[in-house]
Amino acid sequence: MPKSILCVCLGNICRSPTAEAVFRQKLAIAGLPISVDSAGTSNAHAGEHPDARSQHHAKIRGYQLAKLTARQVIPADFLKFDLILAMDNDNLKNLKRMKSEIEQQFIAEDSDLGHSRLPKLAMLELLSHEDPNYCQKAVPDPYYGTADNFEAVLDQIESSVDAWIYSWKS
Ligand code: 4NP
Repeated sequence: MPKSILCVCLGNICRSPTAEAVFRQKLAIAGLPISVDSAGTSNAHAGEHPDARSQHHAKIRGYQLAKLTARQVIPADFLKFDLILAMDNDNLKNLKRMKSEIEQQFIAEDSDLGHSRLPKLAMLELLSHEDPNYCQKAVPDPYYGTADNFEAVLDQIESSVDAWIYSWKS
């Protein structure tokens, strides 16, 4: 079981803040002591609160997103978090590239120092990794979509969060 999770999408205003809020609530109900945060691979919306449509649809299901603020993923996140969960394959690919660059940087510094001290970096997975209902499926980007798309994002995130929690409890 991880001690800390970072949920990641592109803008950190629709899918990943929703995943953060759903994880927080369901982990608290399950009694699992895991900290959760979210971030975006892009900085286009950094500093903004979640999209009003994400806030609205989440609130109907009892999740509060209003106080969250978007930020971009930074290299320190790979040291800080045990598990980074990407909402889709493009973001997973970008996270894998960032992790590999960080590893290469440590290896280069190690060879300068003449010893090895590669730290443990976050494991990377799709949010749907453990979810039999959405087997390895991406959470579709709802930004240019309809109310139904925002509801579908919530359906998928709730299902995949339940699947992770089930895997950690059993
Ligand atoms: P998110 O959604 O990655 O789930 O936060 C998006 C938000 C903004 C944009 C795309 C996706 N955008 O193109 O600005």
